[in-house]
Amino acid sequence: MTKISAAITAVGGYVPQFVLTNKMLEDMVDTNDEWITSRTGIKERRVLKKEEGEGTSFMAIKAAQEVLEKRDLDPAEIDLVIVATATPDSLVASTAAFVASEIGASNAFAYDLLAACSSFLFGMSTAASFIEAGRYKKVLLVGADKMSSIIDYTDRTTCIIFGDGAGAVLFEPNMEGLGLQDQYLRADGKGRQFLGMEGGGSIMPATAESVANKKHFIFQDGKTVFKFAVSNMADVAERILKRNGLTGDDVAWLVPHQANKRIIDATANRMGLDHAKVMMNIQKYGNTTSATLPLLLHDYEKELKKGDNLVFAAFGGGFTWGSIYLKWAYN
Ligand code: UT7
Repeated sequence: MTKISAAITAVGGYVPQFVLTNKMLEDMVDTNDEWITSRTGIKERRVLKKEEGEGTSFMAIKAAQEVLEKRDLDPAEIDLVIVATATPDSLVASTAAFVASEIGASNAFAYDLLAACSSFLFGMSTAASFIEAGRYKKVLLVGADKMSSIIDYTDRTTCIIFGDGAGAVLFEPNMEGLGLQDQYLRADGKGRQFLGMEGGGSIMPATAESVANKKHFIFQDGKTVFKFAVSNMADVAERILKRNGLTGDDVAWLVPHQANKRIIDATANRMGLDHAKVMMNIQKYGNTTSATLPLLLHDYEKELKKGDNLVFAAFGGGFTWGSIYLKWAYN
């Protein structure tokens, strides 16, 4: 029997219209364009304003609809919708259920997947497993985050980094051996003291005090997270190469989480990869958390060729991190 592999067959993406530039941030906090550019690689990021649309689902739906159009797909054929996100529309009710209904995926079940900046990467593993097992034929995976909803725009250590956006891909069975080849995924809960949001969960429900103390905004010990991100992202990417007998020359593209250009450069160097093969859009969008990987695919889709070896790598809150090796399935 031919082995079923799980391939990406369409990509969609959406970023909000409002552009928040480094220059604008100079008027909001004590920072400057030179510092932000040299320390992170970011020049501007997008912010979803109320006038354009509300909530993470607004962007997720737009990205998902592009997938449907490109694939010319009847949404009723979708089996499962996964929304990878750290900023669901609200707690308890699944954002994915709302997205599925709004796009007409009337026969799908749907749920959210939360692993901070690794949400989409882990979602790829989940989506692919359902396809490989032969259980489902069409799994829509969306990565979407409205980071501006949990950012304190008076905190220069976080407000310069994050942005809003969404990307989506469709996973389908492939009989030519294309699609997801290998994965190396990890988590370490000790990391939650260095990156996260203290308020709003079951340990610290919202109170007047938690709001006054700004506990409903994201915090990060940037230096510590940077150290873990640099070594772990490079480690897993190198491990995936070795395990599959690949060198930098065999890789067409590195698809790295967009948290900091310096982390991405370090990963590419460890892989022995020419920097022209590194997908990068951090300068335009900043760190969109769950949306970075699919937004890269969306931006670079025209350059991808059937059979290309892609290595994905991400590191994020939790801590969570990992790498996936995937063969691109279409021109
Ligand atoms: O996606 C999830 C995973 N997240 C990450 O991977 C992020 C990892 N961390 C980072 O990318 C970096 O640590 C940051 C970009 C967040 C910060 O860069 P850094 O080079 O680690 O800076 P730092 O925190 O060590 O700060 C260096 C200096 C400090 O001043 P002193 O103490 O040297 O006088 C900061 O107060 O830069 C100062 N600083 C700033 N200056 C201008 C911190 N933020 C800013 C700012 N503008 N926005």
